[in-house]
Amino acid sequence: MAILKVARLGNPVLRKKGRNLTKEDIHSAKIGRLIDDMIETMREYSGIGLAAPQVHESLQLAIIEFSQKSGRYPDMGKLPLTVLFNPKITVLGKKTQKYWEGCLSIPELRGLVERPSKIRVEYLDRQGKSQKVIAEGFLATVFQHELDHLQGTLYIDRVKDTTRLSFLDEYKRYWEPGKDEEEGELGD
Ligand code: NI
Repeated sequence: MAILKVARLGNPVLRKKGRNLTKEDIHSAKIGRLIDDMIETMREYSGIGLAAPQVHESLQLAIIEFSQKSGRYPDMGKLPLTVLFNPKITVLGKKTQKYWEGCLSIPELRGLVERPSKIRVEYLDRQGKSQKVIAEGFLATVFQHELDHLQGTLYIDRVKDTTRLSFLDEYKRYWEPGKDEEEGELGD
């Protein structure tokens, strides 16, 4: 296992669409090692998700893991370690929500992003089996943030109001959730 170098904003690999993986890829030793290294890297940097392009691999692969202690609100829920290959998102309903997001590829920055609040995600798991999950609230934002990476999209692209873009220290000083009920925090 190894801690991988995380690509930062400006690196073109973050802007490329990842390629789909075949069942052979999914069962290969190379991808198995990559997943183990991504897990170690995500945990090392206290991320709640990591996408393959963030570690210089242009693939449709992301991992997510978070527990309540990484969130500030009890209703943020938790998700055991989940490995997603070739994921597809379907938006369910018209409701949206706003969370402050951060990204390991954009250190020290937070931005308020509005996204659909309920989605369905279809993907292949680590064993190559088809899975389907319905996500709402904070978890829906986590999935969308990570899966955006696989399309070359970063959360800053989705910050509509750039007055809601802030360095971490200033975020804590002026924007920390609690002041506005509909604004939460995503600390990836
Ligand atoms: Ni990110």
